[in-house]
Amino acid sequence: MFNIILFGPPGSGKGTQSEKLIEKYGLKHLSTGDLLRSEIARQTPLGLEAKNLMDKGQLVPDEVVIGMISSALEANPDAKGFLFDGFPRTTAQSEALDKLLKLKQTEIGVLLAMEVSEEELVKRLLNRGLTSGRSDDNNETVIRARIVEYKDKTTVVANYYSQFDKVVTIKGEGTVEEIFSALCSEIEKRLS
Ligand code: AP5
Ligand code: MG
Repeated sequence: MFNIILFGPPGSGKGTQSEKLIEKYGLKHLSTGDLLRSEIARQTPLGLEAKNLMDKGQLVPDEVVIGMISSALEANPDAKGFLFDGFPRTTAQSEALDKLLKLKQTEIGVLLAMEVSEEELVKRLLNRGLTSGRSDDNNETVIRARIVEYKDKTTVVANYYSQFDKVVTIKGEGTVEEIFSALCSEIEKRLS
């Protein structure tokens, strides 16, 4: 099994690159943002609680997303590997993920961190907000709050995995194909 964390701030291209990586490497895509939006669409109690926080650009509680990831891991016993997108986002989530993977006798192979300037992130998300229907994309104040939340609570995740020598930084600006090829080359170094 080879498991990847695709890491980066809001708008850095995690979803875009995940689609390509899961196809190339046959991985199961687990995006906590997508899972939460599906709860919102189905108007579940969890979705209604999460929506309040997501609309303000704030993280939802650790236990909520850890529970969702735990169920998703259990629901996919035959996966060749997982690609985590937007998870883990705190140290507590990182520790919980490592424990869950250990129970499956596997671990994170690499954390690929995409770096993009703040102005580019805001530009991309405002642009996507014109068509995405995502309520956290259509307002610059909320977009900037998401970036602050990332800096305050999520950058520590890369520090956590760097103690195990698992972090690789990639330039997240350029064409989608250029970034994809840089990601693949780092993955292949670790697969062989
Ligand atoms: P989540 O859904 O994870 O959103 P995010 O991290 O804010 O990031 P995005 O999905 O907006 O961006 P992305 O990096 O996937 O980029 P994309 O490829 O779409 O989380 C949403 C919310 O859910 C959080 O705020 C939080 O409330 C909650 N949540 C989720 N997970 C959680 C967790 N683990 N713990 C607690 N709370 C959690 O690209 C963005 C745009 O840029 C697109 O329009 C794309 O076409 C464009 N683009 C992509 N690549 C390029 C490129 N190379 N050049 C130009 N444009 C590009
Ligand atoms: Mg995304």
